[in-house]
Order: sequence, then C-alpha cells, then structure tokens
Amino acid sequence: MKITSKQLRKIWLDFYKERGHVDIGGVSLIGDGSTGVMFNVAGMQPLMPYLLGKKHPMGTRLCNVQGCVRTIDIDSVGDSTHCTFFEMLGSWSLGDYFKEERTKWSFELLNKVFGFPADRLAVTVFAGNENVPRDDETAFYREKSGIKKENIYFLPKEDNWWELDRGPCGPDSEMFYITDKKPCGKNCNPGCSCGRFVEVGNDVFMQYEKIDDNKYIPLKQKNVDTGWGLERLLVFLNNLSDVYLTDLFVDVIGHMEKTLGIKYGEDEKITKAMRIIADHTRTAVMLIGDVNGILPSNVGAGYILRRLIRRAVRYARDINLELDEIIDVAKIFIEKVYNESYPLLLEKEEYIISELLTEMEKFNKALEEGRKEFDKVIFGIEKHKEFAKTKGEVVPDIISGKACFRLYDTFGFPFELTQELAKERVFDVDEEGFKKAFEEHQEKSRTASAGTFKGGLADSSYESAKLHTATHLLMAGLRKMFGPQVMQKGSNITPERLRLDFNVDHKMTPEEIANLENFVNDAIKKEIPVTYEEMSISDAKKSGAVGVFESKYGDIVKVYSIGDVSKEICGGPHAKNTKDLHHLKITKEESSSSGIRRIKAILD
Ligand code: SER
Repeated sequence: MKITSKQLRKIWLDFYKERGHVDIGGVSLIGDGSTGVMFNVAGMQPLMPYLLGKKHPMGTRLCNVQGCVRTIDIDSVGDSTHCTFFEMLGSWSLGDYFKEERTKWSFELLNKVFGFPADRLAVTVFAGNENVPRDDETAFYREKSGIKKENIYFLPKEDNWWELDRGPCGPDSEMFYITDKKPCGKNCNPGCSCGRFVEVGNDVFMQYEKIDDNKYIPLKQKNVDTGWGLERLLVFLNNLSDVYLTDLFVDVIGHMEKTLGIKYGEDEKITKAMRIIADHTRTAVMLIGDVNGILPSNVGAGYILRRLIRRAVRYARDINLELDEIIDVAKIFIEKVYNESYPLLLEKEEYIISELLTEMEKFNKALEEGRKEFDKVIFGIEKHKEFAKTKGEVVPDIISGKACFRLYDTFGFPFELTQELAKERVFDVDEEGFKKAFEEHQEKSRTASAGTFKGGLADSSYESAKLHTATHLLMAGLRKMFGPQVMQKGSNITPERLRLDFNVDHKMTPEEIANLENFVNDAIKKEIPVTYEEMSISDAKKSGAVGVFESKYGDIVKVYSIGDVSKEICGGPHAKNTKDLHHLKITKEESSSSGIRRIKAILD
C-alpha cells in the first residue's frame, strides 16, 4: 500500500492546517434532525449554522475528517465502489477565501501532493440556468490553477449543484481523474457513466440558501465547502480498482477468505457477499459505537441499522459464514482499523459486540421461521394458480401486501427481504398493499399504546437509565478511591443490572467494595438532581468533565453532572434524580482482562 488511510487523513489535515485552517474534528454520525436527514451525509451538515452566518468559535477556515452514512445506494453495495459508511475529508471557508484559493489548492493537492499528472485531470463547472448564471469565474480559476482548458466541462444543475433538503447550497465544481478508457462517444464527459472519468472530489461554492422547494435566496456570506471521499482517494492513490482492497478492508476480507478457504474475487456471489458483510458490519459498528449511538429498532435510524445488520446476516448465511465470524469482522474494525481514528469504538467494544450479537441472533431465528413461511406463501400461490388454470383463469405471480405484512409482523421478516426473495423466484410483491397494511397497523398500535407511556419513557428503559446513572456514580467513587487515572473500559446495561469494566490493577478487597457501595448510596440518599449541559469538547475539558477528549467525536458534547459528585461527557439517558436509584448493591467483582476489573451491580 503506497498510502494508508491513516497517512491520507494526516496529509489532508496538514495541507489545510498549513493554509490557516483549524482541525475541528468530526462529530456524531447521527443527524440532529434539523436537515431532514437521519445521518450525517456530508461533512458540511453539522456546520449548517456557520455556513448560514453564525460565527464559528474556531474561525473562518476549518477542516476535518467526518464520518458519513449514506444508505440511499444500499442496493448497490456489493459492487467494488459503494459503501454505506465513508469518511469525508473536508475543508471550509466561512466567508473567507473563495474561488481563486479554492481552485489553486485543489490543483496543488491533486497534482503536486498526490502526483496526478495535469493532463489526467478534468473538472466540471455549473453551466447556468434560468436562476443562476454560468460559473465562468470558477472555470477561469480552474484553468489558471493548471487544469487544461479542454478538460473543463460545463454541466447542468443535475451534475453541478449541491444542496440538501434545505439550507446553504450553490454551484459546485467536481474534479475527476481521466482513466485510460476510450471516450464512449463524441459527447463523452464527466457526467456520463462510461467510467472514463472517475470523481475524486467536490468543491461547492455556497452562495445561496434553499428556503423552500425551488426557492433560493442569496447567502449573507460566501462559503466554500470542499468534500473529498477518503475511501475513493485511497483507491486511486494506491492504484486499486476496488475499495475493499484498501487498508480499511483488507484485514476483514482476509479474515473471511481464511475462514471460508476461498479467495476474494474468485467467485462473484461470494465476493459480493463478503463486500456486503464488510460494509454493513462496519456501518453497524459505527452507528452503535457512535457518541450518540443508536440501537436496532423498527423505526427511523434504528430501522436502517436493523436492516444493515440483518442484511449482513442474510448474506453470511448464504455463504455459510457463522455469526461469530461477523463478530470477528466487527472486532477487526474496532481494534485494528479504527483504533486510532475512532477510539470511542474501543471503549464501547463490549457494548457494540453484545448489541450486534443480540440483533443477529434475533434475526437468525426470525429468518429461519420467516423463510419457511415465505415458502408456504409461494406454495399457496402456486396451488392457487394450478387450480385457477383448470378454470381457464390466470393468477398473477404476485405476493399480496397482506401476506408481506404478515411475514413482517408475525415473523419479523423484513419487507426488503421478501422483495429480494420474491425477485429470486420471479414473483412481484404488492408494495402499496404492504405499506397500507403497515400504516393501518401503526395507527392501531399508536392508539393502543397512547395511555401506557408516561413522559416519553417506558418503565423498562427508565430502569436502564437509572443503572446508567449508577455507573457514573460508581466511576466517580472509583476515581476518588484509586485516582483520576481510573477510566471506564466497558459498560453493559440491561434493565436488570449494570456491568462496568475499569482499570484497577488489583482485586478489590471486601472493604473497598463496601466503601464504593457506600459512596454511591450516600449520593443516592442526598437526592441529587442529574443535569446536563451542551458544550464544546474544550470547554468540557476545562470544566473538569471526565471523558475521552482525544476522541474525534463532536465539537459539541453533552456533559452530565450529578451535583459535584460526578461530571462526565456522555450521551445519556439518565435518571432525573439520584433518589430514583433507591439503593445500589454490588453483586460481583471479578477480573475482566489483564489490568481490568469488572463489577456487576443491581438497584434494589
Ligand atoms: N457537500 C459536498 C458533497 O458532499 C462537498 O463537501 O459533495
């Protein structure tokens, strides 16, 4: 490997730091809902307020590496390029420099730093429409920077405009590498899909704000939003043709090769499955291990996570890969590939693995039962067809919406899976009918559950929240007893008990255990309210909060305080007041691994 992912992140950040930019680090992958998207799909997304004119505390030139999740192309995952998680190398001017510097630096990076010959580089520029004129200025500076005039292509809004549902937007100018492929025709250009041009990055000139569908107003400040894909660049820079051969994936692919005794790339079906397992497991690890981590569920982002995990399991089953092997894949990502760039994953490893396993086992069971049911449905239709034929009638090869919903509702069989299996058997599915059945069901359960929820939290999750608060108290007690170097090394909470790993180098004596229990129970007796504040990582550090500061996550974090007993960076949720914890009892103290002790405790 000529350039590793670790080197590339550093090259990017150093290049911009040398040009006056501040590395602001990446933030949570989970969107805050303000942009209408569930996950961060681009590095600029968390910067929305600043792109709209709010003053950024770190200045007007920023850069970072931001994890992003885009699941719109989930069905394309399995080819050599698509991934649902990727890292975006970003740099921004917030009302600072504009087109001249931007184009100059992009060329310098591509040509001088990465060594792409000038005549192999092409760019696209916005061709203009009835609302916005052609971007001649960018074309001028692109040429001045070193791009050959004949390699500058003016393309329409479909190709050269960046916007999300709402917010800052504008014309963009993409950069492409020109491969050895012959032009596909007279009009071969970076907008066509023949593969001659491959995109390396995007420079967006944000001059507008989208305030409504088709309604744009000029932005107060002119910004530049630059986002280049780390994975994609790694592929080119290492002369590869497949993202799964980069150092981000080779270890997991190698692991699967070894387990299966099959070489990656040899068999099309197995190769596709290996890619899907690698991609989906990586994204699932990132989403569960995120600073605002989510868990699989049947709605919203949780449903997407569930779908990713379940798809990985399904493909693993197809190629006879055990669940344990998926777990090993997850561990390789956590321990080896992202140990430095996403250290929080290591801290949350045990939690991530146990949640992953729970979901996979649940699905495995559902899959076995659901598949049998699916076959029964098909069998039923076939029978019906035969019977109808005797009467001269034709029954279409379609699975009704009701049948799809029954598979989903009773057997936990995802609709997408019904669709995929139906496709294999050349059957259609009634998607509209499924949606209707789904909505009717949701309406019913909303009405039914309206009375059972109080204050938004079901009883069971409040139990977990209380145990989570108890974990904070235990950590505060441990640090008080053994020193500030003691950190949480793992945590697992069920509504019944908590489990906490921490670095203490000896077996705790019965007296120490009693002291720790007393410390927590004293705090409970004092009936201390649990509060939180949102602040920047550096303010959190100054405030004395405990947490992983070197983590790449979030310039804004939540700091939970329990009076002056505990102050920790944490995503929550927590009990409202320590009195809700009633009483803590440590049920076990044991070794977890070398230098790490483990406590189990309950609230009684
Ligand atoms: N927002 C632009 C993109 O995602 C550039 O960062 O392509």
